[in-house]
Amino acid sequence: MPQQSAPHPTDLVVFGGTGDLSMRKLLPSLYLLDRDGHLDGGTRVVAVSRDGLTDADFRDKAAAAVRGHHAVRIAEPDVLHRFLGRLHHVTVDVGGDPFGWDDLTAVLEPGRDRVFYLAVPPMISGPICRGLADAGLVTPCSRVVMEKPLGRDLASSQAVNDAVGEVFDESRIYRIDHYLGKETVQNLLVLRFANVFLEPLWNSRWIDHVQITAAETVGVGGRRGYYDTSGAMRDMVQNHLLQLLCLTAMEPPASYDRDAVRDEKLKVLQSLRPLTGDRVAEDTVRGQYGRGAVQGTEVLGYLDEPGGPATSDTETFVALRAEVANWRWAGVPFYLRTGKRMQHSRSEIVIRFREVPHTIFPGTDMPGPGSLVIRLQPDEGIHLTMLAKTPGAGALRLRPVPLELSFADTFADRAPEAYERLLTDVLAGDPTLFMRRDEVEAAWRWVDPVIEAWNGLSTTPETYPAGSAGPAGAHRLIGRTGRTWHEEERPR
Ligand code: BG6
Repeated sequence: MPQQSAPHPTDLVVFGGTGDLSMRKLLPSLYLLDRDGHLDGGTRVVAVSRDGLTDADFRDKAAAAVRGHHAVRIAEPDVLHRFLGRLHHVTVDVGGDPFGWDDLTAVLEPGRDRVFYLAVPPMISGPICRGLADAGLVTPCSRVVMEKPLGRDLASSQAVNDAVGEVFDESRIYRIDHYLGKETVQNLLVLRFANVFLEPLWNSRWIDHVQITAAETVGVGGRRGYYDTSGAMRDMVQNHLLQLLCLTAMEPPASYDRDAVRDEKLKVLQSLRPLTGDRVAEDTVRGQYGRGAVQGTEVLGYLDEPGGPATSDTETFVALRAEVANWRWAGVPFYLRTGKRMQHSRSEIVIRFREVPHTIFPGTDMPGPGSLVIRLQPDEGIHLTMLAKTPGAGALRLRPVPLELSFADTFADRAPEAYERLLTDVLAGDPTLFMRRDEVEAAWRWVDPVIEAWNGLSTTPETYPAGSAGPAGAHRLIGRTGRTWHEEERPR
């Protein structure tokens, strides 16, 4: 991993600082960084919102958020006291009749690094950057962090990027895809490029197909309003799943360096065969969860979730077949799948190998070729399935057996939260794990035609019961070529 510069006193200014992301992810992660000695003593967090809170009010809210976070468990009183002392709140309204910029100017101290974190809807990113520039708050080495959604299609993403780009140079813009901060996702790079034995197998000659799954048991919860304008394709596929596909399919970069890695990911996105015309109906499946039971608990269907219309074609599930049209991957399908209210929460990348070119065990039942599963969550680890002989005299019998590497069992260290890693990198000025503008736009270029084609189809998303393995169409999609999704293979 690249060298990180030493922590430096920084004012981290979080717009949307009292919102959900800040409370659930940013503040607990910053607390953990402070506890583990990764925050410079002088670093401060300035939350910006329209809430009119005093510093004391905000610190109370933050303390509750930190204490309630699963990775913190018991907040150590002296660390919490030190951490809360770093927090400030400033009321700024960036709307039609802006106010509060002078208050923000008064709080920020000269001579420190500045990071502006935009945990806000994309349409106000531009006005915030303009306000910062007009107030003279943008110093030459200030950075800006953007959260998804980064637009809802190519045009709106370009508009946001243009607006932010008027104030910040591309090298100062950090676009978050929190999947890139997950330990196992970074481990995928290490697995591929620090071990010599995989690379010779990592191509269409030995790999039959790849599956990338991000399944969640949760529904849309209180986010129905946002979600109804998004859907699984924009919310998960355009960013998280395509990033995983890039890391799986990319060529070895010359070094673990901000541009070398991102250049290789971009080439993968540019090699994706466009999904257009009849292929959209053939190679994609949309679903929407209905009522059902998730792990024994009755739950509402998507249309009954509060905060959205009673009828809607928004997809909560997508499965699709993608192709990376290049020398390495020609003819290898990449099946992507994501859904809410599924039977299990599970994110994984499955590399399914080909059959042996010739069997020396004629007449023996071959239980199918081996696979490599990179499990992102839960139970982070790597599982390699190989065929072995079942002990015993008599006829030769083969059985798939797992070689398991569980990160929890192997490493005593706590795996940091994705946001801990990403915040550390922003504070150190390392953008390798953040998305460059050209990557985000290449992903929209591939996704937009699919969404447009869906809008033109007379069909609607297939309903699947909450707590199930998704719509039947997803099983038909992969089953067309005699393949199955990974979990269908488990009970052997
Ligand atoms: C977010 C999506 O980006 O990722 C959510 O907006 C989704 O809808 C979440 O639930 C999943 O993240 P994780 O880390 O829980 O897999």
